[in-house]
Amino acid sequence: MTTDHANQFVCDLVAYEPGKPIEETARELGLDPKEIVKLASNENPLGPSPLAQKAIAEAASTAHIYPDGGGFKLRSAIAEKYDLDIKNTVLGNGSNEIIELLCHSFLNPDAELVAAEHAFVVYKLMATLFGAKYVAVPDPGFVHDLDGMLNAITDKTRLVFIANPNNPTGTIVSEAAIDAFMAKVPEHVIVVFDEAYFEFLDDAPDTLKYIREGKNVCVLRTFSKAQGLAALRIGYGLASEPLANILNKARQPFNANAIAQAGALAAINDTSHINATVENNRIGLELFHSEFEKRNLEYVPSVANFVLVKVKEGDRVFKEMLAKGVIVRAMSGYKLPDWIRVSVGTPTENARFLEVLDEVL
Ligand SMILES: Cc1ncc(COP(=O)(O)O)c(C=O)c1O
Repeated sequence: MTTDHANQFVCDLVAYEPGKPIEETARELGLDPKEIVKLASNENPLGPSPLAQKAIAEAASTAHIYPDGGGFKLRSAIAEKYDLDIKNTVLGNGSNEIIELLCHSFLNPDAELVAAEHAFVVYKLMATLFGAKYVAVPDPGFVHDLDGMLNAITDKTRLVFIANPNNPTGTIVSEAAIDAFMAKVPEHVIVVFDEAYFEFLDDAPDTLKYIREGKNVCVLRTFSKAQGLAALRIGYGLASEPLANILNKARQPFNANAIAQAGALAAINDTSHINATVENNRIGLELFHSEFEKRNLEYVPSVANFVLVKVKEGDRVFKEMLAKGVIVRAMSGYKLPDWIRVSVGTPTENARFLEVLDEVL
C-alpha cells in the first residue's frame, strides 16, 4: 500500500472537527440556510468589520498579484499597536498556523508539550502531528493550574501552552498567577499565551511585557473573533526577535494571503466595530449565565464569547438542537460528554438558542 510508510503518529491523528457549517446543515436537513442559527465556532455575530469588508473588496482587483510575503504593512500596524518592533511579529493563516509553526520549530519525537487537560484541542493535534509527547495537566474547576503545569515541565519540555481565556472553558488565569509562573519557568521552555479572545477581556493580563524583556514567550492573537474575519484565516504571533525569526523561517512564503492582509489591516483599528462586538458579547454572556442559573444548569462562568453548559447528554442535545436548526458544539471530543458549548450570538439568536434548548431538555 502506498500509505504503508506514512508516519504512524500522523495515521493515529484524530482530525479536528470544526463547528458544523450552516450550508451543510441546511443541505442535510432540507432547511433554508437563513433559518439556521450557528453558535458553534465562537464567530462574531455582528459580522466582519465594515472597514475590512471595504478593503477586501478593493483588494480583490489585485488578486492576480502575489501577496507581500513579508506582510510589511500589516506587521507594521500590529507592531505599532502594541509598541513592539515589526521584528517581533509573525503572520499566520489563522493563529492556528502559528501553533503549528511553534510545534514545527520546537517539537520532535523526543520532545514534550505541556497544556491543561481541557485546553484548546489543536495543541494536542499539533503535538501528535510532530510525534511529540502531549502532557495534559489536570485543571480543577476548568481553570489552568499553573503550579501543576510547572511541575509537569521536564528537561524534554519545549512548549507550554496557556490559553487565556481558554476554549472551550472560557476561564482565565490572572496576571499575578502568570507572573508567579514566569518567575519559576525554566529557561529552556517557550511559554505560549494563546489570546484569541483577548479583546473581550475587561482587564487583560499584560503578557507583552515578557516579550519586551526578551523572555521565551510567544503571544498568539487573531482577527477571527472580535474583528469577525474568521473566513480570511489571519492571525499573528508576537515574540522576542530570535523566536519570531525562527517562526518566520518555518512558514510558507505566502502563508497570509493578500485579501486577508488587506482586511486585517483595515480591521485592526476599527474600534467602533470592536466596541459594538464586545458590548453585544457582554450582554449575551450575562443573559446566558443568568438563564442557565434560572434553569439550574451547571455552567462555567466565561470571560470569552462562548459558554460551556452541562446538559447531561451533550451529543443528544447537540443532535436534537441541530434538527431544529440551532448548531452548538458537542463536547465529547474534549471528554466532556455531558456538556455543550454555545457561542454568544445576536440577541435574536441567543433567544432562539434558549427556546430550542428548552424544547430539547
Ligand atoms: C484558544 C484558541 N486559539 C486559537 C484559535 C484559532 O483561531 P484562528 O486560527 O481562527 O486564528 C481558536 C479558535 O477557535 C481558539 O479558540
